[in-house]
Amino acid sequence: MSTAAARPDLTQAEVLLELDGIGISFGGLRAVDDLSFKVRQGEILGLIGPNGAGKTTVFNMITGVYKPGDGRIRWHGKEVTGLAPHRIAKAGIRRTFQTIRLFPDMTVLENVVAGEHLLMTQRWWQGLLNTPAQRREENAVVERAMAVLQQLDLADVAREIAVSLPYGAQRRVEMARTLVSSPELIILDEPAAGLNELESEELNKTIFGIRDAGVTVLLVEHDMSVVMNVTDNIVVINFGKKIAEGKPEEIRADPLVIEAYLGQDDDDEDEAPDTAADGTQVAAP
Ligand SMILES: Nc1ncnc2c1ncn2[C@@H]1O[C@H](COP(=O)(O)OP(=O)(O)OP(=O)(O)O)[C@@H](O)[C@H]1O
Ligand SMILES: [Mg+2]
Repeated sequence: MSTAAARPDLTQAEVLLELDGIGISFGGLRAVDDLSFKVRQGEILGLIGPNGAGKTTVFNMITGVYKPGDGRIRWHGKEVTGLAPHRIAKAGIRRTFQTIRLFPDMTVLENVVAGEHLLMTQRWWQGLLNTPAQRREENAVVERAMAVLQQLDLADVAREIAVSLPYGAQRRVEMARTLVSSPELIILDEPAAGLNELESEELNKTIFGIRDAGVTVLLVEHDMSVVMNVTDNIVVINFGKKIAEGKPEEIRADPLVIEAYLGQDDDDEDEAPDTAADGTQVAAP
């Protein structure tokens, strides 16, 4: 297994994803402003910042949920700015959500297979007719799903109702759902939210496992033990702007980063600040 001490040398790695000066406003609020960074093949990149800093909004722009007002997003060097979410997913970028979104009546396996159905190539009428092509694709999906469940240590609970599992396992089901389509980049929005200490440690291993399987990882996370342990590099934003970028040990010692976090009340970790830098009232996300 990889450890934080054995980070890969990424200097020569291909740039998979590039954000070039992206920005977006909601009414009078500049949620993200002139933000640029690169994600390299094989990297585990952390995007961190205080509550309301704009992290989820960045993910929403990458995945096509929001169209950036400014700037460009490139994937393998080709512009993908403003493409619809399903096209971004098909291109090889998949994400999990800050709040767990599992189908409540489905088993673990069904949840994972359902994630893949969104991307299946067979036409809808073949599904109605139950053609051999449809059945072949269906079987292949179930096989892939079981392999991913095995990888994430979920094979034993494949037939259980997903939402009945402990929180840590539910988070892994969400990851399995994104991994089943063999993405090149997986984007995780606060995967440690709601996890206990033991589950957080397990999460570190899961994230290393995902990277070791060849998937590049971009993650937002408030749990600093996870961030500092798993990431190769970190981008820090505050009020939508990049304030620092570097290796975990550099970020930890950066005065601007310390100041941004000290300005935050630790007891209110899940609340957005009441006012933005320009004094605009900010609604909780
Ligand atoms: N659809 C929207 N409409 C209006 N304002 C929004 C919208 N989405 C986000 N915002 C605002 O943009 C800012 C950034 O929000 P975002 O959710 O990206 O922050 P975050 O860094 O993910 O915060 P947290 O750590 O709390 O999840 C916040 O002030 C938020 O209220
Ligand atoms: Mg968020």
